[in-house]
Amino acid sequence: MKNNIKLIVVKDYDEMSEVAFKFFKSEIECGATNFGMATGSTPIGLYKHICNDYKENKIYSQLNYYNLDEYHGLDKTHPQSYYTFMNEMLFSQINASNCYIPNGEIDISKSIEEYQKVLNSTTIDVQLLGVGVNAHIGFNEPGTPFDIQTNFVKLKNTTREANKRFFNNNIDEVPEYAITMGIKDIMKSKKVLVLANGESKSTAIYNMIYGEKNELVPASVLQDHPDVTVIVDFKAASKLPLKTMAIDVSSTRVKIGVFNSDLERVDYEVISHENEGIYEKMLEMVKPMLNNEIYKIGVSISGYTNNGIVSHPVNKMYSFDVKTKLENDIKRNVEVINRANASAYGEYYINHHSASSLYYISLATGIGGGYVANGNLILGTRGLVGEISNMIIDTHEFNHEFFADGSIEMHYNTYKLTKNEKLFIKQMGTVVANIANTIDPEVIVFDLKNPDLEDSLIEKIEGYANELLYDVHSCKINIVKSNLVDESLIGAAMYAMKGS
Ligand code: F6R
Repeated sequence: MKNNIKLIVVKDYDEMSEVAFKFFKSEIECGATNFGMATGSTPIGLYKHICNDYKENKIYSQLNYYNLDEYHGLDKTHPQSYYTFMNEMLFSQINASNCYIPNGEIDISKSIEEYQKVLNSTTIDVQLLGVGVNAHIGFNEPGTPFDIQTNFVKLKNTTREANKRFFNNNIDEVPEYAITMGIKDIMKSKKVLVLANGESKSTAIYNMIYGEKNELVPASVLQDHPDVTVIVDFKAASKLPLKTMAIDVSSTRVKIGVFNSDLERVDYEVISHENEGIYEKMLEMVKPMLNNEIYKIGVSISGYTNNGIVSHPVNKMYSFDVKTKLENDIKRNVEVINRANASAYGEYYINHHSASSLYYISLATGIGGGYVANGNLILGTRGLVGEISNMIIDTHEFNHEFFADGSIEMHYNTYKLTKNEKLFIKQMGTVVANIANTIDPEVIVFDLKNPDLEDSLIEKIEGYANELLYDVHSCKINIVKSNLVDESLIGAAMYAMKGS
């Protein structure tokens, strides 16, 4: 992707409209007065924001507006003329009087001449563009020369088909001709803002940014414009080769990795930390690694996590809403996932993707887990799946708190287990047998994060668990030891990319 194109990927139409509005407003604040406008369904949300803001901010009535195009052969008053559209959606609501739209009622050459005169007398500061499914901009259909100015066009059937929704779903009612600002005029504007949403635009958006510049793909001309901002939702961005950043926060280190869409790591940094100021340090590291192609961030953190919010953080360093804070600080979508859940996902992807299901258990400072079935990370209604640390092993001590006394984690963090290994083997073996009896995963992976723990511990837990299993199991459980180092980082990237 060329540097002149700034890509912003957002989650949906509403966010696209909101971000476009902020862009529009900041351009006005920086002195822009001449705006090139578009019709169609794409900019409606943006226009709503402008109309809303007009209640407080009257500047909109003093700006100059230049529309891209108009159907030929429709009266201005026709409900689907772009004249009517712009008046209803925007101009009448913001009391704008300096509005220019090609005239579709009069003689074609006169209309072209009049509109070109208008365009020649001004410089558009920001040209707003929607994109057709065939990558048209304005009504410049595929095959239109890049050096053309205001012109008369015969609309392609794909365009009339896409627009029939405005004409009682009847293609015969869609005009066959239109007058449009030319590609040369569009390219003369100082800035271009392209908006697109929905899967149907994904090929056009890919070709516009990454395809060969070609008159058959009118929007690809923008590769040569010096200042283009593209705001697209995930669906319209779905064919773009975007990157994902993963941030893995453990109690001693922060790892940051950037992954391409094939989950290959293309950038990597690690810092050690003590908890003080860790968020700020992490931010300092993240910012220089960010670029336009990174559109999503996955964060894995220890602690109970539900809907992206970490509560009961193990070491209290993230006892705030990391998702919202980071999203505000770096303007990207952020997904937060429990570290052991992320590890389960990463472990599954790297070592066990042919298994139908996997249960992952880590023995680190605390005890964590995660469950993956049919390629999906299973989180449960409240995000509790995998929190085996909560398994109650002593009801006498149980006090209904998260990490309650009486839970396995309170009995055995790794510090305590080295003191009473025998009992730990029995109780962890019981937990594993219960997982096998209730969840029945194909593979159980154990990750001994503490270097003081010996591999023989796994064999002992496995042996004890197998003694306890119900007879219905035709085979015994086989616990596999993990030997990965970056599984939680990869899991966080996967979670950001494809969800659970
Ligand atoms: C409209 C225009 C067209 C549309 C494009 C997308 O003035 O010039 O290029 O932007 O056809 O239309 P929607 O937004 O309806 O998908």
